[in-house]
Amino acid sequence: MKFSSPFGDARCLLPTRRVAVGASQLRQFAIEPRIHDPLSNPHEAQQEYGINLVQWQGLSSLDALILAVPLRSGYSTFKLNLLEFIVKVLVTGAAGFIGFHLCQRLLTRGDEVVGLDNLNDYYDVSLKKDRLAQLKQKSSFSFHKLDLANQPGIAQLFAQNCFDVVVNLAAQAGVRYSLKNPHAYVDSNLVGFTNILEGCRYGKVKHLVFASSSSLYGANTKIPFSVHHNVDYPVSLYAATKKANELMAHTYSHLYGLPTTGLRFFTVYGPWGRPDMALFLFTKAILARQAIEVFNYGKMQRDFTYIDDIVEGVVRVIDKVPQSNPQWSGNAPDPGTSNAPYKIYNIGNNNPVELMDFIEAIEDCLGIKAEKKMLSIQPGDVPVTYADVEDLVRDVGFKPKTTIQVGIERFVKWYRDYYFI
Ligand SMILES: NC(=O)c1ccc[n+]([C@@H]2O[C@H](COP(=O)([O-])OP(=O)(O)OC[C@H]3O[C@@H](n4cnc5c(N)ncnc54)[C@H](O)[C@@H]3O)[C@@H](O)[C@H]2O)c1
Repeated sequence: MKFSSPFGDARCLLPTRRVAVGASQLRQFAIEPRIHDPLSNPHEAQQEYGINLVQWQGLSSLDALILAVPLRSGYSTFKLNLLEFIVKVLVTGAAGFIGFHLCQRLLTRGDEVVGLDNLNDYYDVSLKKDRLAQLKQKSSFSFHKLDLANQPGIAQLFAQNCFDVVVNLAAQAGVRYSLKNPHAYVDSNLVGFTNILEGCRYGKVKHLVFASSSSLYGANTKIPFSVHHNVDYPVSLYAATKKANELMAHTYSHLYGLPTTGLRFFTVYGPWGRPDMALFLFTKAILARQAIEVFNYGKMQRDFTYIDDIVEGVVRVIDKVPQSNPQWSGNAPDPGTSNAPYKIYNIGNNNPVELMDFIEAIEDCLGIKAEKKMLSIQPGDVPVTYADVEDLVRDVGFKPKTTIQVGIERFVKWYRDYYFI
């Protein structure tokens, strides 16, 4: 009987941490896996399974195992997919909102996660420390307090570790703050990102995934915002630095064959969220019976995206290493892809919500009516965000789905528990 697997017809090499996961996946197909230690007796493995010794030379860890289905049982051996080789993921911004949730998810699926963060005081540092304290409970998590802009420090981190994947989330975030403190954006988002690119280049990282932003669509008015539209008109320095990150990553993909994927996140919210963002600010003010500031007199739409949906998207993208697109043409360049191993995705809810409806959902959840201070639009802000997620759905089979009612309820529950309110 020929076994046909959805993962391809090949051999399966798994680092130890992944063996349990791989074994359970094999068992779903009624295949009893055999575990073989190639380093103790590679010749036996070669004879029994026809495995090419070259296949495990890339494995850094001495405890690497081969999990293979014996050919003689009538099944072909197979691998689960290339990314099953991943043992080590560097997540920068690990103490941040998205980084914390992503680390939790990666640890749950069995990855070894190295977190990096400078724990800056852009917002309440104790919130960052509390997130970190949860991650530190897992033995496969380690943490480095380090600034991205510290060139020797980052170079040393890459020299001492062999990262398979890097997810760069550390950045100076926030549109409004970029008018106040532009240098913070240059230091973290430009200088820091260069250090990450150099680390990935010399560290031979297999995939760099990095946070971009919906704010890149800036002055664009064609909605939904698509990764295939040009985004050459940012309206804040924050957006300009994120655009620069995409250009810099493309250059490294082109010059050094470094596979890079940029993710444009759309207004992320959820438990452990950022204190400078609308949901947090509104909840805090409403509970304290203080007025909330409603910009552009409430005439705003946001494609609010729940944190679990963002994390699901990121994890799936991590496993989808971009390839060069043979159809890409310099005569009519498509900004979302390239002839280099480079790809851009939107991760947004694909369902923009009126700001006033968002506020009403918070009021309903809290059971308190908000006092509203109606104000004009803030410089650097855009009135509407709306993500086209066609590429994400096509390539990784996922579309964010959490409604604001569900997401806000979960946030409010967390907020009340965390702050004892
Ligand atoms: N939350 C959103 O709605 C949203 C939307 C679009 C894009 N993004 C991007 O996603 C990423 C994560 O955002 P978040 O909401 O989790 O923000 P966050 O501020 O909670 O997390 C960023 C983390 O990076 C750390 N950091 C900042 N500069 C650093 C530096 N120079 N060196 C080391 N660490 C540094 C901070 O201490 C923080 O813990 C950011 O790149 C952000 O620009 C977020």
